[in-house]
Amino acid sequence: MCGISGAVGLKNISQVLFEGIRNLEYRGYDSCGVALMNKKRIVIKKDIGGVEEFYRKHNVLQMESKTGIAHTRWATHGKVTLENTHPFTSNEKNFAVVHNGIISNYRPLRDQLKKEGYKFFSETDTEILAHLLEKFYKSSRNVEKAFIKMLNIIEGTFALAFISSHLPDHIFCAKRESPLMLGIGDEVKFIGSDFNAFIDHTKNAVILDDGEYAILSRDAYVVKNILSKDEVIKPITKIEWDSETTKKGGYPHYMLKEIYEQPQTISTALDLEASGLDDIVDLFVESENVYLLGVGTTFYVAKYAKYIFSKIAKEFFPSISSDEFLALANVDKRSLVFSASQSGETYDTLSALKHAKSKGARTGAVVNVMGSSIARLVDKVVLQGSGPEICVISTKAALSQMVILTLIAMKLALKKKVITRKVYNTHLRALRELPEIIEGVLNERSGFIHRLANKYSSSRNWLYLGRGIYYPIALESALKMKEVAYVHAEGMPGGFLKHGTLAMIDDDIFSIVFVPPPEDKALYEATMHCIEEIRARSGFVLGIHFTQQGKNQDLYSEELILPKVPSLTAPLIQLVIGQLFAYFTATSLKRNVDKPRSLAKSVTVA
Ligand code: AGP
Repeated sequence: MCGISGAVGLKNISQVLFEGIRNLEYRGYDSCGVALMNKKRIVIKKDIGGVEEFYRKHNVLQMESKTGIAHTRWATHGKVTLENTHPFTSNEKNFAVVHNGIISNYRPLRDQLKKEGYKFFSETDTEILAHLLEKFYKSSRNVEKAFIKMLNIIEGTFALAFISSHLPDHIFCAKRESPLMLGIGDEVKFIGSDFNAFIDHTKNAVILDDGEYAILSRDAYVVKNILSKDEVIKPITKIEWDSETTKKGGYPHYMLKEIYEQPQTISTALDLEASGLDDIVDLFVESENVYLLGVGTTFYVAKYAKYIFSKIAKEFFPSISSDEFLALANVDKRSLVFSASQSGETYDTLSALKHAKSKGARTGAVVNVMGSSIARLVDKVVLQGSGPEICVISTKAALSQMVILTLIAMKLALKKKVITRKVYNTHLRALRELPEIIEGVLNERSGFIHRLANKYSSSRNWLYLGRGIYYPIALESALKMKEVAYVHAEGMPGGFLKHGTLAMIDDDIFSIVFVPPPEDKALYEATMHCIEEIRARSGFVLGIHFTQQGKNQDLYSEELILPKVPSLTAPLIQLVIGQLFAYFTATSLKRNVDKPRSLAKSVTVA
């Protein structure tokens, strides 16, 4: 949801800002722009489209400046036009502002400013900020005072930053419910929506909390509370990721790189078994009712966890899409609300957790980004350590979350004495074999999946079917297909098909069925029934299964055979196939894989 980057102090910060917003482009890439201080004058350059093209077209790297801010936009208020692109300047051009979030009371403020003679050139909520700064500066002749006054009248969510020709060697910024952090170098200071904005220059970060603002110059920075105006002494967070891990490392896309990183990220997740989960398990034990939350992919992670908790720990924990949480959940101090979030910044999940907290519920989360809002908000957090996930499509983070939630379910079951230590160890062995099996599948099956995806890339309608725990795998695989290939794909429980959708089966509908290993007899047979139903209507079925070659010759139109694996990990291996099938379909259709249209990596708006 928009990326902000800023720097003050270097001889020329153009290159730094370029790298900053390029690294943040996964947050939004509709348009971008910079505001640079040049001899006490603010120079603005902006355009629609991506960062690299913008820099090339406008020769921005040639523009010298020691202080500047930059922005890459994901449109919320106002269409994708040059006029709506950040930064915005005040009418006298003494302030330039960038913003991420939504100013909810911008309409009355804009009407008032218009009455006072301020001219507006965009449809955005952000432009009022520049005018408010100018207006309040006129009465106080003090930039910080004008800033505080503006912060106290705007409502909604924001990470915002500005530069001003009245104090040319400074950057001002503030945060409420949208992420913003400072990078602390020796003779240079940075701001960024996340670490990626300055990771090449410093590993020292200060994470702003809601209701704080900061002022930065080459040699100093100060963080203050918006309401009290008192200085807040903030800890320095050491960034553990390095920029190398965020680069593509020879893969054509981040998505493929991140799919191939899964053996590693699962191993890292499994390291938590020894040390990192006991507190969380206690939370589950102590709570009378548990809700599992997530949205988009992490909703499917929560759904997967629902099946795992039921299967292993004999507990029924409902899974709720975070955006529906308020409408559904009745929580109180006996409840636990446990969520999954890659970014830790997703508005829907964050506000659901805040609501839960306000009702006295316990909260927990598995999160990939340390220092993120959700990581800091919840009572107990599991940092999954999957490393930066740059592609907008979530793959490795989701799979690791599923593994971590399986570990939690196993520990809960052991604690409740629902399973013996022996069974626990059998499950653990199965999980520990997973990285190697996935590595093998990636190496040996991707060529075939690639060919299959090319062959069927013109299919416009896919049904993804799975029963039991394979149902969330079907849902998540279908979501991958929709978001990266822009192909209609509908995930559905296998048993649901005959209750309506079967009527659609014809030459134009292609089905993928996630077939459990035959050892899971009941589920396997139930899945077979749904395949028969499709085949009886001459429908196309791609079966992803674990039985031997040739055994099902007449059943499938195409089949992808996987090695024999324990039933605990079978669905996770099939998810990797779902990810690859979506990826190769997208490349075959020449989609913008890492930055699909209309999406953004972390959705920090309602
Ligand atoms: C994943 O591929 C999606 N782009 C999206 O559904 C995502 O999972 C969702 O927005 C939640 O994000 P989070 O994990 O960062 O909270």
